[in-house]
This record gives sequence, structure tokens and C-alpha cells, in this order.
Amino acid sequence: MQTQKAKPQIWSSRVGVIFAVMGSAIGLGNFLRFPGLAAKYGGGSFMIPYAVAFLLLGLPIAWAEWSLGRMGGRKGFNSSPGIFFALWKNRAAPYLGVLGLMIPIGIYMYYVYIEAWCLYYAIGYLTGTVPGGNDPTVFASFFESFTGQGRDGALFNQGLKPAVWMLLICFALNFAVVYRGLNKGIELISRVAIPVLFLCAFGVLFRVLTLGTPDPAFPERNVLNGLGFMWNPNYGDKTFLESLANPEMWLEAAGQMFFSLSVGFGIIITYASYVHQDEDIVLSGTTSAAGNLFAEVALGGLITIPAAFVFLGPENAGGSTFQLGFMTLPNVFARMALGQVVGFLWFGLLFIAAITSSISMLQPAIAFFEEGLGLGRRAAVTILGFITLVGTTFVVFFSHNLKALDMMDFWVGNVLIYLLATVTITAFAWGIGAEKGVAEAERGSLMRVPRVFLFIMRYVSPLYLVLIFVFWMYAKLPDYWLQVQTDDVSFYTLTFLIVVGVFLSMLVATAARRWRKQEGQS
Ligand code: ALA
Repeated sequence: MQTQKAKPQIWSSRVGVIFAVMGSAIGLGNFLRFPGLAAKYGGGSFMIPYAVAFLLLGLPIAWAEWSLGRMGGRKGFNSSPGIFFALWKNRAAPYLGVLGLMIPIGIYMYYVYIEAWCLYYAIGYLTGTVPGGNDPTVFASFFESFTGQGRDGALFNQGLKPAVWMLLICFALNFAVVYRGLNKGIELISRVAIPVLFLCAFGVLFRVLTLGTPDPAFPERNVLNGLGFMWNPNYGDKTFLESLANPEMWLEAAGQMFFSLSVGFGIIITYASYVHQDEDIVLSGTTSAAGNLFAEVALGGLITIPAAFVFLGPENAGGSTFQLGFMTLPNVFARMALGQVVGFLWFGLLFIAAITSSISMLQPAIAFFEEGLGLGRRAAVTILGFITLVGTTFVVFFSHNLKALDMMDFWVGNVLIYLLATVTITAFAWGIGAEKGVAEAERGSLMRVPRVFLFIMRYVSPLYLVLIFVFWMYAKLPDYWLQVQTDDVSFYTLTFLIVVGVFLSMLVATAARRWRKQEGQS
């Protein structure tokens, strides 16, 4: 096989790659999605399916992606279609890799928009333009109006609204970073951003843990009880085992694990293809997964819900991702001494967490355009910029109740992730063979993969994935399918995603022909 690029790109150090993968993993999922889910399912109880999902899905599939990525890199490929082409001599293989382009591109289209909200709120706290006061409805209506949830097209009415301007800034920043390339762009920004992110998070955590009992009228609303509310197993009127017999909790824990680790996204496989061939990928994979878990459980889990608890009480401390992040927490900051500073640090850290994730969503497609279509970096970045701008404009235009965003999250951020994760672990454990794949992962590694994971990779992960996917589709699909049939925006969103998928498949067909030709010549 001929190497596709004259000069392959390589991470400059192990710390660089670990920070880049951690940057991809640590994102809005850690600080907003996780605490909301944990609180919804009774805190401590949620940690059981969460830990099971980590051991049976997150960690083994992450190792598989690292190993596949490094093998693909050795053959000169960096994108999922290229890596799948190089590793499986089957004509369908590169087409399965389309998922590894579609998922990061599709998620980027709405993720970058949420990133723009974080930037707007961070600047708002700095300049004092986020509303204050004690009335919770003010925060909700500020957020709803800022995001144009009243009607479609609201953010394009009589000029571009602030949310759109913030979005354009985020777009420019993301593309500037990936245009600068692997080392001067992604690696450099991750090395700076991850320590800053942890510093901000520790600052906010310190403030939350020193809140004491802010309102003497409610002595029970104190930090310790807030931590207990978040973490004590709470079964309501059920026993421990009954509380675990909730299939939805298991489904959501698995979905959270994928989203949070950026596993099943097609990102780790691309990032891992840039490592040195003697790099310790088992240790690097484990370290970045552990860093992500720390940010999620120890930082995300200790900040949001306890802070909301001490100011708003248990009945108002939970909520969906957006409710918690953009309505409940601003309400909390408004009541807190130094709230403006904490609000700035909080949304600043969310923005940093988001941008290190969103840049990672762009790299797989850039790698594909370069190696599959022979484009230079500038052309690859321009084409991807155009595709993603169309998609994001779609999400922002159909802003009524954030319908388009929700639909994209369902089809791409859930359905396709399960599919790619299943393809990846099956291809690894059965296509390459778990034994051979793990031996390859362990080459150059100080740490060995415990042998029980061979069994897990072969049988448990694929079966667990299929089981969860079937249950999940059974629970959610009828509702979303009904929406596609009855609601125009839902129909347009699915149609749009199918068009993007077909377009990418056509590009992959062109690339596969090119690769086969090069292979024939070598
Ligand atoms: N892994 C990223 C997050 O948690 C996508 O937000």
C-alpha cells in the first residue's frame, strides 16, 4: 500500500495527543448533560449503569478505536473510510467509514451553536449584560428569546441577532484552528485549553463548596445536603434492585458514555492515526478516558446540582441539559456573592470545553478530503466550512422549540453513534480478531489490556450494544418517526441528513476508486 501523503502528520508528544483526545472528550456532555442525567435517575443509582457502560462499552471501544487508528496510520490513512479500506479487504468497508464522517460533521452542526451560546453568556457575565434578580422566569425568557425559540426564522429577522453573530465567531475560531493543522492548531490549543479549563473548574468548584448555607431561612439547603442530593443513592419508594430495573436509565447511561468519551464518533480513530507507531496507546487511551471521567464526575458532578440545590432547593435543582445550563445556573449566579465572576468562569470553561470538542469533529472530514480526494488543506477546510455552515444555518433557522437541533441530536447523536460503535467493535473483535487487535494495541505499551476484555470485546460489548439499541429504538423511535411524518421541520431535518449522507457516500466511492488505483500501481 502506498502512503497517501508525502509527509505524514504526527502528534509532537504523548502529552499532546492525550490532551487533544481529552479536549475532544471533555465537553458540554461532562458539565451539563451528565449532572442532569445523574440527578434525574437518583444520583448514586445512576452510577451503577454508568460504571457498567464504562467497563463494557466505553473503555473497550475506545481501545479498539485507538488500535484501529494506529494501524490505519501505519498504512498512511487518517479517516475512517480510508482506515476501513486499508484494514478490511471488502468493497463495503470504506462505506461503513462514512459513519465516521457523518457523525462528527452532523454533531458539529448543532454543537457549535451551543458553543456559541456559552461564548455569549461568558461575554455577558464579563460585561454585565446577563439578567440578574430573583425571578426564575426572567432567565428562561432571556434564553428562549436569545435562541429564537418563539418561531422559525426569528434570529434572522431584521438583521442577524446576537446568537448568529456569536455563531459566526465560533465558526471562524474553529476553522482557524483546524486550518493551522494538527500541531500548530489542534495540539497547541489543547495543551493550553485543558489546563485553563481545569483551573476554571477548580475555581468554580471552590466557590460552590464554600457556599455553606446561603439562606438562613432554609437551613437544610446547605452544601453537604446538596452533595447528598446529587450522590446519595435515592430510590424513592423503591428498593435498590427495583431502582436498577429501569431500562431507560441503562440506555441513557450508555448514550452518555459514548457522548462523553467521544467514542463511536469517528474522532478517536482519526486522532489515534497520528500517533507514533511505538506510542503507548493503551496507556494514552486509558489516561484520556480517566481524565474525562474525572472532569465529568468530580467536576461536572460536584458543581452544578449542589449549587442549584443550595439556592433553589431540591425541587428546582435538576432539569434538562439546557434548562440546567442556561436557566437554572444563571438564576443561581444571580443569588451568589461573586456570582458575576463565577458566571464568567463557568461559561468560559464551558466554551473552552466545547471548542476543544468541536475542532475534533472537523478533523476526520478534513483528513478524508485530503487523503481521499487529494485536496490541499485550504480546499478541504473551505468545503467542510461550506457543508457545516449550511447545516448549522438550518439548525439556527428552524429555531422554534429548537426542533431541528433536537432532531439532529436524535438521528446523529444517538442512532448513528450506536451504529458506528457496533460496527467498530465488531470489525475489531471479529474482522481483525480481538487477540490480534489487542496484541497490536499493546505493542509499545507499558500497560496490558486485562485478558477478560478479549471476551468482553468479542461477545459482551456487541451484544450489549445491540440489546441497548433495540430497546432504545423501541422506546424512542415511534415518537420521532411520528414527528417526521407530521411535522415539516422534522421531515426536512431527516431529509437533509440523508442528503448529506448520500453526498458523503458518493465522495467515499470516488475516494475508494482512487485508493484502489493507487494500490494497483504500487
Ligand atoms: N465528548 C464531547 C462532550 O462531552 C462531545 O461534549
